[in-house]
Amino acid sequence: MSKIAVMGYGTVGSGVVEVLLTNQASIAKRAGEAVDIKYVLDLRDFPGSVIEDRLIKDFDIIKNDPEIDIVVETMGGINPAYQFVKACLCEGKSVCTSNKELVAKYGPELLAIARKNNINFLFEASVGGGIPIIRPLNQSLTADEIEEITGILNGTTNYILTKMRDEGSDFSDVLHKAQELGYAERNPEADIEGYDACRKIAILTSLAYGQQVDFEDIYTEGITKITAEDFKYAAKINATVKLFGTSKMVNGKVLAMVAPVMIKSTHPLYSVDDVFNGIYVRGNMLGEVMFYGKGAGKLPTASAVVADVVDAVKHKGKSIMTIWSEEKQEILPFDEAEHRFFVRIKDSEGIIEKAEAVFGKLEMIDAGIEGEHAFITEIMTEKEYREAAGRIQGIISMIRTDF
Ligand code: HSE
Repeated sequence: MSKIAVMGYGTVGSGVVEVLLTNQASIAKRAGEAVDIKYVLDLRDFPGSVIEDRLIKDFDIIKNDPEIDIVVETMGGINPAYQFVKACLCEGKSVCTSNKELVAKYGPELLAIARKNNINFLFEASVGGGIPIIRPLNQSLTADEIEEITGILNGTTNYILTKMRDEGSDFSDVLHKAQELGYAERNPEADIEGYDACRKIAILTSLAYGQQVDFEDIYTEGITKITAEDFKYAAKINATVKLFGTSKMVNGKVLAMVAPVMIKSTHPLYSVDDVFNGIYVRGNMLGEVMFYGKGAGKLPTASAVVADVVDAVKHKGKSIMTIWSEEKQEILPFDEAEHRFFVRIKDSEGIIEKAEAVFGKLEMIDAGIEGEHAFITEIMTEKEYREAAGRIQGIISMIRTDF
């Protein structure tokens, strides 16, 4: 029998306990032995709950108990999760975590400790919630050179953008409604500013290329400036707007960004709506592959954590994660990234001719909106766009496109 500890009895932690208790028999069969929760660490009390008799408040009890060889970390954040996880790994205990901040910042260091001690640091639930994506990248897509990973990696923003498109509402109205319904956090900054998606694409990119991609180096833009009008223009060309986390190999360097992107209905991720996540991967041998499912939520996320626990039980004494070294992956300077840009500009005397003079050939879109024009540029670099935009007055907004 494997004795495990769960650190953090919040949404995901309580889900992990629920999954382990509900599917006890099938999990034991798949793991090859029973999995017993010996401790749950949390500073709060949970009177009357199933974990009442296993609740502890002192981390050292877990660290110093030789019977515990697998620890689940579902506390979130960096402190004290990082110190606790590192201490567990140094004690020779495998760790399974859902904590994307921890993995994005300390992944290579924690993996190196796990490798040295022949144990495992597993983090399937840190990206895409219940969608299997870490394991495929680590185990299944290993014959390929990964050319592109593009994902809708944040359920909250995908829900907001879907409602804006379907209801013609503005960003702030939909956000408030989503908060009332509990779909968006009271403090939604990490989601709407793209920080959550940024950590997730940093993890996927690092795993795909085996070298560290710092999330601080990834260009990140959220969805707060997207408006109902943008969707009206998009509809005219069979397109929509999605928040993408993307990384692509461009001339041997990785282009990584998080930004709202206008995509046509032919794009594989076009139909990923509401709180769902979708991840598109292109390999040089495999071609295209897609992963789709619930990227958040108590039980889908807990299911991914427990799958890691089963893997950790099955692979005691053997490290199964591939290399993710601390060496830095070379990132393409964002100025060199190329797109076609969707641009809205205020109407004024001769504005189309002036726009053509700075941006070159334009594809105009008419959505019947008074007082402005909209167009899509030819392919140009970020730098070229910025310089051109600086030479003309009246730009309302810009969205990068993926066509
Ligand atoms: N806030 C995240 C989302 C939760 O909306 O996708 C999962 O990381």
